[in-house]
Amino acid sequence: APLDKIRNFSIIAHIDHGKSTLADRLIQHTGGLTAREMSEQVLDNMEIERERGITIKAQTVRLDYKGHVLNLMDTPGHVDFAYEVSRSLAACEGALLVVDAAQGVEAQTLANVYQSIEHDHEIIPVINKVDLPAAEPERVKQQIEDIIGISTEHAVLASAKSGLGIEAVLDAIVALIPPPKGDATAPLKAMLVDSWYDPYLGVVILVRVIDGSLRKGQEITFMAQGTKHLVDRVGCFRPKIEQLDALGPGEIGFITAQIKEVAQTNVGDTITDTKKPTTTALPGFKTVQPVVFCGLFPTDAADFEKLRDSLGKLRLNDASFSFETESSAALGFGFRCGFLGLLHLEIIQERLTREYDLDLITTAPSVVYKLLLRDGTSKELHNPADMPDPSTIELIEEPWIEATIFVPDEYLGSLLKLCQDRRGIQKNLTYVGGRAQIVYELPLNEVVFDFYDRLKSISRGYASFDYHQIGHREGDLVKMTIMVNSEVVDALSMIVHRDAAEARGRHMCERMKDLIPRHLFKIPVQAAIGGKVIARETIAAMRKDVTAKCYGGDISRKKKLLDKQKEGKKRMRQYGNVDIPQEAFIAALRMG
Ligand code: GTP
Repeated sequence: APLDKIRNFSIIAHIDHGKSTLADRLIQHTGGLTAREMSEQVLDNMEIERERGITIKAQTVRLDYKGHVLNLMDTPGHVDFAYEVSRSLAACEGALLVVDAAQGVEAQTLANVYQSIEHDHEIIPVINKVDLPAAEPERVKQQIEDIIGISTEHAVLASAKSGLGIEAVLDAIVALIPPPKGDATAPLKAMLVDSWYDPYLGVVILVRVIDGSLRKGQEITFMAQGTKHLVDRVGCFRPKIEQLDALGPGEIGFITAQIKEVAQTNVGDTITDTKKPTTTALPGFKTVQPVVFCGLFPTDAADFEKLRDSLGKLRLNDASFSFETESSAALGFGFRCGFLGLLHLEIIQERLTREYDLDLITTAPSVVYKLLLRDGTSKELHNPADMPDPSTIELIEEPWIEATIFVPDEYLGSLLKLCQDRRGIQKNLTYVGGRAQIVYELPLNEVVFDFYDRLKSISRGYASFDYHQIGHREGDLVKMTIMVNSEVVDALSMIVHRDAAEARGRHMCERMKDLIPRHLFKIPVQAAIGGKVIARETIAAMRKDVTAKCYGGDISRKKKLLDKQKEGKKRMRQYGNVDIPQEAFIAALRMG
């Protein structure tokens, strides 16, 4: 299509404000799908995405509207995937800002909208859900002007559910979003926006062409990766696949090039023509690094190979998590895995459980610490179990984040306390229409455990939270170990701040005491730093055999009890001569 007929845009929205519903409506209205095909939400195509109501992988759809080609870029909606979001935004010239007319602006919306502003996007506010009785479109417009600081002169009132305002949204896109710029005669320069594995096509790469053209049969080079491939398919999604001969400047579409793994493609990389390459790569490329690590162990040791296999399969489609074998005295053989954030961890864990039917134990999530050693060398620590002897350490640095939290007034006090308890440093506190916006610097370590859950429960779900990393800072950190019956349970080791160690240690011991069943002998549970015990609980010895209470009684009940015990046994880890139930590993990590 000629440049002046192209419009590239994304949709920015807080979770549940109606992004997917609106996207589906736009597709339906422009004729991409029949009503029957619309019955399923199209863009959120993975089962877990749909259930959790979050979009993980970007998908893009080409729409034809009144002689124009509109490319709708779907973007992931969570802080863990911030870099992917930034590349999707870089591929567009504008954005629809969808705000729920009853809920108003939330923290997540803000983070994405600021990115969109940084990319010089034309932003069109869409006040959605105006059909709701609680809708207050004028108040929300005012909020958008006050909080975000963009004009709402061209805001569109819509109901993605009823279809109201959809035509107005499409007209606004054509009228307000600037067409892309590009040079058809210049050497090929295209951005690798996203990639995913398709069982039929292999790796599919989503591209935005800047200059030149991308065509079937062309040999291309990925500039950052330094690899070459032959393009065997070019096309776009409507949302069904449509094959094309070429993609020109300003266009968004996909290519395949017989690539087997997404790990061979880097989001943000520049694609050029091998024979006639561009001299300058696109700005903003970076490789994403996992920030949260944990161990994943099969409950049944026989599942180790199956777990390796499943992780490999998942990685085919998600190069942003990493895994390598790890062995633990308590848990046997498993994998040390790295994730972009806690949600990312949960998604992978859930897929392993659900799609691959694996029963897993997850060890405490840990961030990446930087150690400076006395001998002048430095090292990155991904696993508390690998912590060197404290006497060899000069200093430890931990990652910090800046968090933006929106919370209704009435929960503010408890929220400030939570942030304070987690070693937060308050940077800002402002009020916007009955709600407080607080900005805190927090150690990531204090956030990865259960911060988000706590935040939600304190605020009855009303608080919203968003963060980005701001670098490493020195911290007074120590490794705390948990000993059961005088043996260290390595999977429960964690790095904690010295001031928090005692409380955390006591809490862990109490939890373990409740979770480990009584044995025939007394079991001490201790938390220690170095050799020094900082907390201790004792699990009393069992007085009688469990079957004793069926004394003289009915034999089937006795058998049931024994069976139950056997069943329980399967979900236990033997440690020394103590059985630790699986739940203990997980529950002990929650701070409560
Ligand atoms: P994520 O994919 O999680 O980011 O959410 P989303 O922003 O895509 O929201 P989604 O489209 O899934 O909509 C969330 C909920 O709001 C769904 O239950 C929709 O049916 C509902 N919804 C969307 N648009 C409207 C609307 O205009 N009016 C009403 N009443 N409900 C709507």
